[in-house]
Amino acid sequence: VRRITVPQIARRKGGEPIVSLTSYHAHTAAIVDKHADFILVGDSLGMVMHGMESTVGVPLDLMIMHGKAVVRGTKRALIVVDMPFGTYEESPQVAFRNAAKIMKETACGAVKLEGGARMAETIRFLTERGIPVMAHIGLTPQSSHVMGGFKTQGRDEDSWPLHEADAKAVSEAGAFAVVLEGMVEPLAAKITKQIDIPTIGIGASAECDGQILVLEDMLGLNPWTPKFVKVYGQLGPMIEQAVSEYAEDVKNRAFPTEDEVYR
Ligand code: KIV
Ligand code: NA
Repeated sequence: VRRITVPQIARRKGGEPIVSLTSYHAHTAAIVDKHADFILVGDSLGMVMHGMESTVGVPLDLMIMHGKAVVRGTKRALIVVDMPFGTYEESPQVAFRNAAKIMKETACGAVKLEGGARMAETIRFLTERGIPVMAHIGLTPQSSHVMGGFKTQGRDEDSWPLHEADAKAVSEAGAFAVVLEGMVEPLAAKITKQIDIPTIGIGASAECDGQILVLEDMLGLNPWTPKFVKVYGQLGPMIEQAVSEYAEDVKNRAFPTEDEVYR
């Protein structure tokens, strides 16, 4: 089977909605691979998998390690790997070096980076040199220290022109798609109509050309999820149930039984 390609994703603009989830491991990725058009190895893994307070501390090597696992576990979806904070902002050259390292070592199909107009030059530099880029605007978690937390964007209509300019800039610079994160619906709708590349929404309404969620959020593995997450499974309570049954069985010498013993 050939993987879904970057041009195939780009051509979905205005068509059948693009399905995406994050994944950080070979086993979950293999499941997601059956249903998603692309899988994002997001830097949210710093918070979700490694207990960090934000994504700012995520190192490049960690993204590469999880990226490799997801590529190994999949065969169909396009794999996109996040560039972590500090590996691309400084210059197009630094961004290219690190993006090339990610692509060579993981064999993923594209990278994603945060930022609109200010990253346009870098997006163009990478794209012209063979690295497909997914952009990410609106709420950009790597800038949470500047923004003063994780805040929904576009509540004040005065801010719309800046977000619209960001979307236009990344699209014209050659990004093949753009994530709109944490954005009021009318702004996400307006941007989706204004640009030629697919918008992938997270907390940005069904007006986008596709949707993405953090897998662990939609599986109910976190005790708390933001308003924009729909919880499709309750894996947290299921895991707790299984672990507590196991603990009881061990204490009562009810595990292992005949079935699990070598004679
Ligand atoms: O890191 C991540 O999971 C992301 C998605 C939420 C878009 O960037
Ligand atoms: Na991210």
